[in-house]
Amino acid sequence: AEPLRVALAGLGTVGAGVIRLVEANADLIARRAGRPIAVTVISARDRSKKRPVDLTPYTWEDDMVILGERADVDVVVELVGGADGPALSCARATMEAGKAFVTANKAMIAHHGLELAAKAEAAKVALKFEAAVAGGIPVIKGLREGAAANEIERVYGILNGTCNYILSTMEDTGRDFADVLAEAQAKGFAEADPAFDIEGTDAAHKLSILAAIAFGSKIDFLGVETSGITRLRAADIAQADALGYVIRLIGMAETQGDKLFQRVQPHLVPFDHPLAHVDGATNAVVAEGNFSGRLLFQGAGAGDGPTASAVVADLIDIARSTMGRGEIGVPFSVPVAELEAMAPA
Ligand code: HSE
Repeated sequence: AEPLRVALAGLGTVGAGVIRLVEANADLIARRAGRPIAVTVISARDRSKKRPVDLTPYTWEDDMVILGERADVDVVVELVGGADGPALSCARATMEAGKAFVTANKAMIAHHGLELAAKAEAAKVALKFEAAVAGGIPVIKGLREGAAANEIERVYGILNGTCNYILSTMEDTGRDFADVLAEAQAKGFAEADPAFDIEGTDAAHKLSILAAIAFGSKIDFLGVETSGITRLRAADIAQADALGYVIRLIGMAETQGDKLFQRVQPHLVPFDHPLAHVDGATNAVVAEGNFSGRLLFQGAGAGDGPTASAVVADLIDIARSTMGRGEIGVPFSVPVAELEAMAPA
């Protein structure tokens, strides 16, 4: 069968992970997708930068915005980041060119998800963003598909690996905030601007996407009340511990009637709650379905391998759907026309 030809925009940690994964698991991916998945074209802001993978087998394109217009590309994967700028131009142009679009860009989906979903539905192409929320945990697919039959009243969890790494390491070692943050940056978990992590913005991006999927509601990033972990001191963590709690940055979304409440803030979590045992850069999401009961999704929330795993799962969905093995469907839980008709939250 003809391969699904993938263009990759962005060659940082996750981009290199996607190249490695597509190469390492090529045979099983082809079997499961019904055809091979091949990266053909690559693009990034800086061509001359040294990368951890060999890029010589791939065609270079200077302008990432026109990747979707190329005849040798079926789907564009965007791993550049940033809510606006080249990532957004690339998303719009790709779907306008009638090609599928896959992204790990939580900021862009949080701010422009509805507009982009409308474009995807109009062009009848796939828009997929599993990697945008909780890295390698298939929580978008889990809620959108696996729990689709449930009324979900509340969804909450640990959505930022950097903050969780900082809090759990401070707890274990008594080390200093700034010191542990520098380590998270060195390990490649933190955002390019780590203020997005420690001020709670990154978790708020992810929570707004998760809430829209869980409740079938309109994405509302500006409606997330957000506070981060910048004011926490080692003494707060020690005091919480003495009382039987750990401190975790929790994103929580719930519906009450037709109102949606979304918050990101540090919480005291009792030792016997499953979220108290989520350490390091791990993420965890809890959703309560009225028939499924409590669902717990846990795994690596950041890093090259886990995030690449989510990106390539989206590519497999797309390869299958265009082989008649599945359906593209709407990007969110319900069509955009219905979301737009909803009252503001
Ligand atoms: N900076 C993010 C985190 C990366 O620490 O969770 C994954 O979105």
